Amino acid sequence: MKIYHGNIVYSKSATELMSYENGYLLVENGKVLSVEKELKEEYKNSEIIDFKNSLIIPAFSDLHVHAPQYPNRGIQMDLLLNDWLNKYTFPLESKYKDESFARKVYSKFAADLIKYGTMHAVILGTIHNNATDILMEELERRGISSFVGKVNMDKNSPSYLIETTDESIKNTELFIKKHQNNKYAKPILTPRFAPTCSFDLLKKLGELSDKYNIGVQTHIVESLWEAEEAKKCFEGCLCDMEIYEKAGLLKHKPFIAAHYIFPSELDLKLLKECGGFAVQCPDSTSNVIAGIMRTGYLLDNGINLGIGSDIAAGEYLGIYRGVSSAVRLSKIKSFYEKENRSIDFSEAFYMATKMSGSIFGKVGSFEKGYDFDALVISDIEDDYEKLTPIEMAERFCYLGETTNIYHRFLRGEEI
Ligand code: GUN
Ligand code: FE
Repeated sequence: MKIYHGNIVYSKSATELMSYENGYLLVENGKVLSVEKELKEEYKNSEIIDFKNSLIIPAFSDLHVHAPQYPNRGIQMDLLLNDWLNKYTFPLESKYKDESFARKVYSKFAADLIKYGTMHAVILGTIHNNATDILMEELERRGISSFVGKVNMDKNSPSYLIETTDESIKNTELFIKKHQNNKYAKPILTPRFAPTCSFDLLKKLGELSDKYNIGVQTHIVESLWEAEEAKKCFEGCLCDMEIYEKAGLLKHKPFIAAHYIFPSELDLKLLKECGGFAVQCPDSTSNVIAGIMRTGYLLDNGINLGIGSDIAAGEYLGIYRGVSSAVRLSKIKSFYEKENRSIDFSEAFYMATKMSGSIFGKVGSFEKGYDFDALVISDIEDDYEKLTPIEMAERFCYLGETTNIYHRFLRGEEI
């Protein structure tokens, strides 16, 4: 049993952000036993790890990130989605046929996930099996809970970054077989997005989904261009989600719909029915997509939500900054469109921790039985001020740096 003392903040629900000033967090076998205001008599003689005035919060989950795009974070931001993909992103991704390049980037990427406080993630690789195997190895070695996909794309893509349908399916099955028994880094199907996938490819991925009981990540109604292009490519489908439904890709969990900015009524119905997650990637949608998710509306309509860094369309790997960006964008959205209410800090923090964490098991909260995956945050207050624990968490999400994260715990072990 380990007892940690400090200022403790975690979500119970979207509207219940729990706060314990000078509280005690009891951990046994890597799992949270309880959080207490005062230490019970029976524990008075136990060893206490004292984090004093520091803040203890759950580690974050990133529900949408492109590992191969890590070298491009924070550069080449002058274009919108389609042009950005063609000019910058596809050429970069083609470099992953080189395994030594993949090793360099992916070991840094996996190490940085932990550095930036992300212990659980849903990650896209590239079309290349060998490189994506290396990505798996780097994540598995570090114990990062993750769903990772070898990307599928068999049309509307440059000649240097495209597969035939048969190759794509054969290599996806090899990828699944190789990694299906991994402890931490699990395979997930990853059709890039509707414009770069044939219906034949999606249907065959649907068969793999059934055969291996495996979920799907993709980009859904991310821009008006993408939503229109998808309907053009798949005649007879009324919306993006219907394409995946017709291909049999909504049957196995998790279903991860990145962006989800312009959903139709049918998109909403299908995502809700399959218990999927819509992922807000606030920085990315400001940088290259130019659309804002209807976050408040989706929360009110019972859609599961998470936050994604979407490197390299988004520039910053720390999901804490995504929390504040999500609040900020929701206010702009509601200013211009009154029917879309804004969200508050409690809701955004919940999205980035407990709600998204549910994909990976019991992570993202400090309720009893949750994995003790945690960050200890310091140097958030000035000498002359006193913040409440929730204010400390909020300021960290607006101004935080990796240097504010003094300790990191994964399943109870300091890493
Ligand atoms: N849609 C298809 N591919 C991508 C990608 O790499 N990034 C983003 N943001 N959207 C996409
Ligand atoms: Fe993306």
